[in-house]
Amino acid sequence: MQSKKLNVLVLGYGAREHALAWKIAQSPRVNRIFVAPGNAGTAEIGTNVPISDEDVPGLVAFASQNKIDLTVVGTNDPLAFGVVDAFQAAGLAIFGPQQAAARLESSKAFAKGFMQRHNIPTPAFATFHDYNEALAYLDSLPNGRLVVKVSGLGKMGLGVTVCDTKAQAQAALHTYMVEKLLGEAAAQTIIIEERLSGPELSMFALSDGKTAVPLFPVRDHKRIFDGDTGPNTGGMGAFAPVPDLPANFVAEVMDSIIQPTIEGMAAEGNPYVGVLFAGLMLTECGVQVLEFNCRFGNPETLVLMSLLESDLVEAMRACIEGRLTPAHVQIRSGAAAAVMMASPSYPAESFPTGLPISGTEIARALPGVNLFHHGTSCENGRLVTSRGRVLAVTATAHSLPCALKRAYRGVDQTHFAGAQFRRDIGGGVVQLQKPPILGWYEPSVGLGTAV
Ligand code: AMP
Ligand code: GLY
Repeated sequence: MQSKKLNVLVLGYGAREHALAWKIAQSPRVNRIFVAPGNAGTAEIGTNVPISDEDVPGLVAFASQNKIDLTVVGTNDPLAFGVVDAFQAAGLAIFGPQQAAARLESSKAFAKGFMQRHNIPTPAFATFHDYNEALAYLDSLPNGRLVVKVSGLGKMGLGVTVCDTKAQAQAALHTYMVEKLLGEAAAQTIIIEERLSGPELSMFALSDGKTAVPLFPVRDHKRIFDGDTGPNTGGMGAFAPVPDLPANFVAEVMDSIIQPTIEGMAAEGNPYVGVLFAGLMLTECGVQVLEFNCRFGNPETLVLMSLLESDLVEAMRACIEGRLTPAHVQIRSGAAAAVMMASPSYPAESFPTGLPISGTEIARALPGVNLFHHGTSCENGRLVTSRGRVLAVTATAHSLPCALKRAYRGVDQTHFAGAQFRRDIGGGVVQLQKPPILGWYEPSVGLGTAV
């Protein structure tokens, strides 16, 4: 018997949601796709709905009225506001963790305490609600190699200050707790953490609350300028596979971090359903968790979706229905890279918008190249910029150097005034003499032969 085709709603506006909608559209199970609020790219795949991804009652009403069978949460704020709980209360299927489980991202104090309770490797830390107590603690420390973080969601890394000296840490405490730069709520709870060093990595796994199945690690580039310099951004590019990882990396991270997290959340009565994104640092004393996110990464998702072979809709439904198996996640061989193009002066607070964009059709026609929109809109039939990050040229190929070359060919064809992009995505990887190591993929996720 032919099963019913599904109407799917994606919540969010960026390149991540464009990539999710693009992958969802490939599922033979899908009837219609809606994106709230979406962008000019998602409008080509489905129907944009002019409801903010933070308007939880508005989204529940829309999903009920339009017989939405599956809602996929792209962004983190709705999770923190309890969008999953609200949809479930209305009898609507939704992919993402409930509010209590989403504290893994929305409360760093919760996440750090959780990791401590469950022996999940994370930098040593202390939590403070009082400014003077935090200052006194700083005084007692041997040096200022510390990181000061607000516990709540901090936009674009603004809630994290990496310090070399105690004076910098004192200044950060003053900014967050006394000047309340990020607001009253963010001033209430602060974490002072040991500063570690090493390469960073984004690891993703799906979970149905009991079983976790790995996707794969992706590396993103957070700084605006080449050589990892300049201010932090939402992410200027991403790639996979990551060549500098040992062959058993995924299995080890599953054993020491992902599985204990899923088991610990279930044991504490907050089963975690959705995608778990662990921000990792590869340190001299092993892999450490810098943060958890309860959503897909942006731009990492462009790479994840480009290399995911299996049906995303089926995998998400399996998560929601508590029947996830490794067979739901099949990864293609080869590599993918995404290069983000951003507005002039991004990530400064103000930047021009409404700049005409050209060449996207030429770029998209290149071999292996795809375009995911982040901040675009359509004005009088013309594609224009609408946010700091604008669009990401993404490419797949048999090898990482080739995927990077293809992505940059696409960037060459895509134009808007003053476009900024990094020229070193994949940093140094393209100069490798040897082909990238693909052996870290788990054989259980059905990888083809690496070429
Ligand atoms: P987070 O939002 O906690 O991932 O922090 C944002 C960025 O700050 C990370 O991607 C790291 O580059 C840096 N960072 C956070 N925590 C640490 C730490 N304990 N040691 C060194 N760098 C860190
Ligand atoms: N690219 C990092 C993030 O999505 O948080």
